[in-house]
Amino acid sequence: MKIDILTLFPNMFEAVFGDSIIGRARAKGLLEINFTDIRSYTLDKHGKVDDYPYGAGGGMVMAPQPIFDAYKSVCKNGEKPYVIYMSPQGSVFNQKKASDLAQKEHIVLLCGHYEGVDERILEEIVDEEISIGDYVLTGGEIAAMAVTDAVARMISGVVQNGNSLTESHSDGLLEYPQYTRPPEFHGRTVPEILLSGHDANIKKWRRKQSLLRTKAKRPDMFEKYQLTEEDKKLLED
Ligand code: ADE
Repeated sequence: MKIDILTLFPNMFEAVFGDSIIGRARAKGLLEINFTDIRSYTLDKHGKVDDYPYGAGGGMVMAPQPIFDAYKSVCKNGEKPYVIYMSPQGSVFNQKKASDLAQKEHIVLLCGHYEGVDERILEEIVDEEISIGDYVLTGGEIAAMAVTDAVARMISGVVQNGNSLTESHSDGLLEYPQYTRPPEFHGRTVPEILLSGHDANIKKWRRKQSLLRTKAKRPDMFEKYQLTEEDKKLLED
C-alpha cells in the first residue's frame, strides 16, 4: 500500500517514520510512505501558500492551487487515490477505520494549517474528513502521523509477531494485562495461572480480565459489547 502525505512541514515526519517500526517496514518495502511539500507547488513568486479569507474574519486560508497541484503530483497514470483531509470537523478515527483504510491501495492525507483550506479543495479532491479527537491542533500533521501509524501497523508483516485479533479495540474489548520476567517485582507477583502452562485456563483467565478491564476502564465500550453465555459465566465466577 502507498500513503502520500501532503503537508507544509514534511520534515516533521522524518523523525517519526524515518526509523522505528514503521521506518523498518518502509525499508523492507512492506509499504510506501511519501511526504510532499505543498509549498514547492505554489505558483506564487514569493512562495505564498495562503491568503486572507473572503468576507473578512481572522486568520489565513490555505489557497487551492498549491494543494491541487501537490495532489496531482501524487496521482500517477490518472489513478484516483482515496483522499482524506485531517480536520477537527471529520468523523473521529478508530481501530475499525484504521483496518478499513489498510485495505486500500493508495491513500492521500492532506494536512491543513491556519484557518483551514479553501472549501473548493474539499469539494474537488477530498473523499473523507478524519479527526483524531474533539480538540483542535495547530495543523493536521500530528493527526496524519497518528492515522499513518495505526494504518501501517495493520499491514501484514509490519508488526513482529503481532496478534491483531487480541489487542485492544480489535473486537470491542480492551486487551488483558501482560507480564514478563521477573516473576516478582517490588513484591508484586505475576498471576500464578500464567506460570501454570495450562493453555485453556490461561485463555479463560485472559478473557475474563479483558471483560473486567473494559467494564472498569471503558464502561461505554462494555455497554455496547454483546456478551456470550460463556462471558456471563466467566464474570459470575
Ligand atoms: N487538525 C486540527 N485539529 C485536528 C484534529 N483534532 N484532528 C485532525 N486534524 C486536525
